[in-house]
Amino acid sequence: MKKCLLICLMFALPLLVCAQEINMIPYPNKVNVLQGHLLINKDTRFYADKGRFADMVSYFNGEFGGTKKSALNKQQLVSIAIDRGNRKPGSYKLSITLKTININGVDSAGVFNGMVTLLQLCKLAKGEGQNLALPCIIINDEPKYQWRGFLLDESRHFFGKMAVERILNWMAFYKLNRFHWHLTDAQGWRFSVSKYPLLATKAGIGNFTDSLAAAQYYTQADVREIVNYAKQRSIEIIPEIDMPGHATAANKAYPVFSGGTTSGFENFTFNPGKEITYQFMGDVLREVKSLFPGNRIHIGGDEVTLGIKAWENNPDVNRLMKENNFTDHRQAEFYFLKRIADTVSKLNCKVMCWDEAVAAGLPVSQVTINWWRQDKPAVLNEALDKGYHVILCPRLPLYFDFVQDSTHRSGRKWGKRYNSYLDVYHFPENTLTNAIYSNSNVIGVQANLWTETVITEKRLQYLLFPRLAALAESGWNDSSVKNDDLFNKRLKAHLVYYKKTGIYYYDPFNPGYHPEVIDEPKPAGNQD
Ligand code: ACM
Repeated sequence: MKKCLLICLMFALPLLVCAQEINMIPYPNKVNVLQGHLLINKDTRFYADKGRFADMVSYFNGEFGGTKKSALNKQQLVSIAIDRGNRKPGSYKLSITLKTININGVDSAGVFNGMVTLLQLCKLAKGEGQNLALPCIIINDEPKYQWRGFLLDESRHFFGKMAVERILNWMAFYKLNRFHWHLTDAQGWRFSVSKYPLLATKAGIGNFTDSLAAAQYYTQADVREIVNYAKQRSIEIIPEIDMPGHATAANKAYPVFSGGTTSGFENFTFNPGKEITYQFMGDVLREVKSLFPGNRIHIGGDEVTLGIKAWENNPDVNRLMKENNFTDHRQAEFYFLKRIADTVSKLNCKVMCWDEAVAAGLPVSQVTINWWRQDKPAVLNEALDKGYHVILCPRLPLYFDFVQDSTHRSGRKWGKRYNSYLDVYHFPENTLTNAIYSNSNVIGVQANLWTETVITEKRLQYLLFPRLAALAESGWNDSSVKNDDLFNKRLKAHLVYYKKTGIYYYDPFNPGYHPEVIDEPKPAGNQD
């Protein structure tokens, strides 16, 4: 069925700027530039009376011209349509003729992607903000991967609603469509749960560099606002409630659920041997489900072994081991994950886990695995052999808390290795075989930004840009079309746009342009 909506644009002319250079990132699959131009100006607005395009149109207007009203004549110029066909989800066709703009998406994500392509064409034109002459053009485009994700860790340091919404804006600009929100970890629990208020007010106290920092967390109203903001930008948010490890903050608030302490890892795990732990988590997950309409919940499952020694002296775990004839504490870990995965499934949500869970025997049809340990390629093979859907997010090159230049001092490295924007651009073909990354169960790529060394939004931006642009190419385009010279040329146009919008980016072409940001921890307890 073809659904169509006519959208009006307002416009008036003089002072033309040509958007002749096609500097889109990710670069569209097929671009055919025709003779002639269509003229639009800075007062151009899209209109949609109601219906499914209203959110997108309001996003587009916000990006295109702010909230200013214009008193110019209306002229019907753009048509948007959903035209279901035998194309990948997210595909679209954008055509600009002398008089009209048509965006034809295979689904609403496709329409959104078409609008973003149009937006980039306008934003990256030299002299943007004046009157624009858009080239007549036909673009046919589809994503390589359905999952083009980015993770932000807000447990180690909390950035807040405005910073998150700014990231979501940039994700939309780069057609990145999944925001993995790491909301809980050892250093802080960052959203409120009505049934367990201390998770916010007590487990929200502290961060990686200041264990006494006043509680920082999102209210449920904040979460709803952010989820809605993301939805308007065709982005699904996947909340992560990390368990049974990385649970120190939650256990600080409710010690009754702690699996105990071992050297260097205080109350790091939840207690898998107590029934009340499962009731508690069931309650939390029910509230999570009500906040996140995407129906996917990430239950962590990483690095439990760091704190598992505490279970040796835990009578509840010992009883669980005995009752089930477990001989190894990892069996108790997997028992916990299975019960939680079952709870998530009963809430009609899909389960997501880090790659340690590949060994846990979770139901293949319900579970998606994030493969992060690039030093364990066998785990990726095992996940695919077992039939799991897999998202590729290996530390090399997709951890954005790694430095991006050999001279940078703050941030992680793997030996001498670090993650340059070109390493990101050339993922996955620089790291994995075609047989792996073209496996139909590999559903996408994701970059992860852990924030132990990131306190300020300035440093956050420095680590994100321009690697976010490279990530967009990694998720959208096949290796056969990648070309460093052409990418660098387009990227330079994006750097100009970053500069204009006030982004503090790393400039690989002029590394001294913005000095590296090194965040210094504040004195303990000081909130200024
Ligand atoms: C991880 O980096 N622990 C998923």
